[in-house]
Order: sequence, then C-alpha cells, then structure tokens
Amino acid sequence: MLKGKNILLGVTGGIAAYKMADVASLLVKQGADVHVVMTENATKFIPAETFQVLTKNKVYVDVFDENTDDYVNVPHISLGTSADCVLIAPATADVIGKIANGIADDMVTTTVLPARCPILIAPSMNVYMLENPIVQDNIAKLKKFGYTIIEPASGHLACGYDGKGKLPQPEVLVENVLYAAAKEKDLAGKKVLVDAGPTQEAIDPVRYITNHSSGKMGYAVARVAAMRGAEVTLVSGPTNLSTPIGVKRIDVVSAEDMYNAMVDEALDSDIIVMSAAVADFTPETVADNKIKKSGDDEGMVIPLVRTKDILKTLGTMKDSSGTFDITDDSLKMEDKKQIIVGFSMETENLLENSRKKLDSKNADMICANSLTTEGAGYQVDTNIVTMITKNEMIQLPLLSKDEVADRILDKVKQLMV
Ligand code: CTP
Repeated sequence: MLKGKNILLGVTGGIAAYKMADVASLLVKQGADVHVVMTENATKFIPAETFQVLTKNKVYVDVFDENTDDYVNVPHISLGTSADCVLIAPATADVIGKIANGIADDMVTTTVLPARCPILIAPSMNVYMLENPIVQDNIAKLKKFGYTIIEPASGHLACGYDGKGKLPQPEVLVENVLYAAAKEKDLAGKKVLVDAGPTQEAIDPVRYITNHSSGKMGYAVARVAAMRGAEVTLVSGPTNLSTPIGVKRIDVVSAEDMYNAMVDEALDSDIIVMSAAVADFTPETVADNKIKKSGDDEGMVIPLVRTKDILKTLGTMKDSSGTFDITDDSLKMEDKKQIIVGFSMETENLLENSRKKLDSKNADMICANSLTTEGAGYQVDTNIVTMITKNEMIQLPLLSKDEVADRILDKVKQLMV
C-alpha cells in the first residue's frame, strides 16, 4: 500500500527504540522507501546499522555527516521535504518539547522542521513523565499545529511502573502511517456508512442464532474509505476486529439494532455499503429465562419471523433520481446523490440471483460473491467479487479484501458523477 511513498522515521532515545526495527521492516514490506534519522541517544538502544540493513538507505545521526556523493542536497532538508509521512517514534519528552518549541538541534529535530507532510508523533515514556503538565502542554501544542499524536498504550512500563506511556505495537504504528500516507484523499468531504459482520438473534439469555460472517469485508471498506479521506461510520455486528483508524464505530447485536442504526445514519450519508450478513429470521419471542429441557423432549421447534430488510428499506427511501422521497418529512433528503451498494452471498446461481437483488432492493450496485469459490467468502482475507450495476457486470480477480474495497469505491465514485 505504500509503493512509491517516502516514509521518514525519526527514532529518539527511549527503550522502545528496538521496536522500530519491526516498524521499518513492515513499512519496507508495504513497498515504502524508508529513511531513518536518529538521535545520538537512540543509537544506545539500537544501532544505526540495523536500520541501514533493513531499509537499504543511509541512516543519519549527525547533522554534519554530509553524504560525500551529493553536495547539492543537505540531508536534513532533503529528507524532511521529500517525505510523504514522518513518524517520530519513540518520541521522548525531550524531542516533543523541542519540536513543540521550534528547537532544531539534532538530526531528528532539524529534519522534522522543514517537513511539509503529515507528521505523526508517538510519545513513549514513564507514566508520570507523560502526565507532567509541561509535557501535556507540549503535546497539546503539537496537536494545535496539526501534528498527529499516536496515543501511547497502557501496561507494564520498562521503568517498572504500570500505566500509560508504552510505545504501541509496530502494527499499530504502521497502520497510522498507512492511514496518513497510503492513499490520495479523493473521498474527502464524503460521508460513508458501512455495515459489517453478523447479527445475533437471541433465543433466550444464553443462546442466539448467528452466521459465519467475520466482518472482514465491511471493515476493509471502512478502513480504505477512511484512508481515502472519507468520514466513515461503521455499524458493526459482533466481531473480534479492531476499529480502523479514523472510523466511528457503532456496535449493534441484532438485525433490529442494525436496522435502527442504519436508518438513523443513512440520511446523512453520501455512500452506503452494506456488507453485513444480516439474519433474515429472528425468534418470534425471546425467553426471559434459559430454556430448560424436560426429560421426555424428542425435539424442539423455535418459531421464527422475518427481520426487516435494511438494504431494501434504504433503497426504497431513496428514489430512482437519487433523492429520498418518502412521506415522513423527517426522513426527506433533497438534492443529494446517494449511492447504495449491497453485497450478495450465494451458493448457487450467483450472478442471476444477485442481479435480481439490484432491482428488488433499488441498489446502485451489488457485489456478488460466492461462498463456494476458493479464496472468497467469510473468514478469509481475500475475495472474488463481481460488481453488478444497471449497465455493467465487472468480474474482479482474486484480490485482498482491501483491494476489493478500493475497486468498489472507485466504481462508486464513477456512479456519483
Ligand atoms: N440485507 C439487509 N437486511 C436483511 C438481509 C440482507 O440489509 N435483513 C442486505 C445484506 O447486507 C446484503 C444484501 O441485503 O447487502 C443481500 O443479502 P443476502 O443475504 O445475499 O440476500 P438476502 O436479501 O438476504 O436474500 P436471500 O437470503 O434470499 O438470498
């Protein structure tokens, strides 16, 4: 996701500096050209050579250590100005204080000052140092000037204390870089609403009916839309996935909860992507207490009733010209071109059945995926999708769910024009 991107890491002297080797390596795997600048103190925790080997780029520690092959570029200026994203991690109280006050007296601070790209700062220090009002004031100042502060994690700190101040795991730091730099912000100003995951329909206080949905496809759409600059709301059934950066998540349990949350949020949305595996049926009644078996039970029947079809409701709310047209005034939305995308999961007659859903639900696009094709479906990280619109049927190859999300959003952008 970072192919062609220039990522600059500023490593300062905290014990967590060793974690930055993993960060550098993960960024290289994402295709980034990674450059590293370090303070003298950082080299006491991890040698510059480690980063040099991992990134294949010269690591600078000394401002006066000029590149003898290049007398045109001053390293701290060219590294700062050519970066697409800077990550200072671990960021000590010292470097935070210096940057907040415009002090540039080492390789890290002199390189950050001329940078014109998103700058991420990951504070990492003892809990009481972090709580110190002077440090907090410096952090607030950095936020005010547009720097992104990556929240420190909590736990057992290397200094022996328990509390906030840990450098987040490398994957979390990399995710922050991806959010800041991986994609053009071509969906800035757009509101995207996504539903994802399974629903749970209660039978009694201990049992429920659900399905195998992992939520991965919907989370990928939410994550990629956020990376592309959209304001994203994710209505999620129960999953064990973490909320993508920059996404507002509303947790729901049942199909009814999901219906209510989606109808509430829909009016305001420019793009709605409905990838949730919503239960079609729910128990007619929920027992107040655990249903006990009696000795001579042969079997059991649970009466089920249909749930509301969320996609169909939202599709009906929106008339064919792309504006809401229903009798309830509170739900009127004029002059807004809204695009609704549904998913269709089938085990047979995939395209024919999915095409029917495009019309019956008044969707702008249905993404058909077969449960029986290898590489597609609920639990895996890949999918094979056919995007069906009124005029087109586009078969995508086997792709990661992130790439599928990107292709869906590209098509949505075309449909919005
Ligand atoms: N959907 C919905 N509300 C429901 C059921 C489905 O919003 N109560 C949405 C899904 O999120 C998906 C689309 O409708 O975007 C198609 O879902 P799918 O399960 O493939 O089809 P169904 O409409 O449920 O029809 P069937 O079960 O007959 O295939």
